[in-house]
Amino acid sequence: MTHRPKVLIFDSGLGGLTVFAEIVKLRPHAEYLYCADDAGFPYGSWKEPELIERVMKLMEELIADHAPDMIVIACNTASTIVLPYLRVHWPTLPFVGTVPAIKPAAERTRSKMISVLGTPGTVARDYTQNLIAQFAAHCSVTLVGSKRLAGFAESYMHGERVSDADIVAEIAPCFKEEGGRRTDAVVLACTHYPLLVDEFKRLAAWPVEWIDPAPAIARRADHLLDERFGVDAAGGAPASRVAIFTSGACPSAPLAATLARYGLVCEFDSTPASERA
Ligand code: DGL
Repeated sequence: MTHRPKVLIFDSGLGGLTVFAEIVKLRPHAEYLYCADDAGFPYGSWKEPELIERVMKLMEELIADHAPDMIVIACNTASTIVLPYLRVHWPTLPFVGTVPAIKPAAERTRSKMISVLGTPGTVARDYTQNLIAQFAAHCSVTLVGSKRLAGFAESYMHGERVSDADIVAEIAPCFKEEGGRRTDAVVLACTHYPLLVDEFKRLAAWPVEWIDPAPAIARRADHLLDERFGVDAAGGAPASRVAIFTSGACPSAPLAATLARYGLVCEFDSTPASERA
């Protein structure tokens, strides 16, 4: 391999780390830039035109500053609306998106009752409706738009406690019973949610399959990188793995420790917040 690819992973916050972790397993020698748009978090309640404009503008800047070879939009809320615009605007740059894993859920369910747990934005999208019509027409699908779970996942990653009652209130609508059948698969349609999956399993009304698409997204990214750059190969200096935050804020000690566990070093703006533009 002559060129070590640089992969940009983008999310509104820390949820994209669930995708990053899977890609790194398959491509340990690539160079990584993780960008969290924490200044825009949460994306779940943004209006569609404003969100498209924001993500396009950020991509302009990120591409100009870092020249990535591939971009992974590790965010369902953004992917389900912005991907077509990105692909038209940068036709030669590969974009890998993250969209609700409705197809695998519909294939795996036995009860034919599935739930899609995402942000209010994702569950309201035409994109999601189309996936249901295409792949899950034979299932009863419950859409659950959570306003608070992504924020809980952020708190958790910042080392803060999230109460069981708060989590239960958000996941409870996923559990449905109808004529002797009950939900047996829940799509984690927000990349933040796998960060809390152990809590979900512990607090679930009954056992279900929690479907996290991150491994499949990683396989897709790896396949595209293979096609363009050849298989992952070691050699030379260790590739950098940097995290940046659009707020420019210095991460708290627990967050820096969390990022370090993912092998990421944070680059931040050392200008005091009061003096930043
Ligand atoms: N992680 C994002 C997703 O996959 C969204 C979280 C948010 O900003 O609301 O949808």
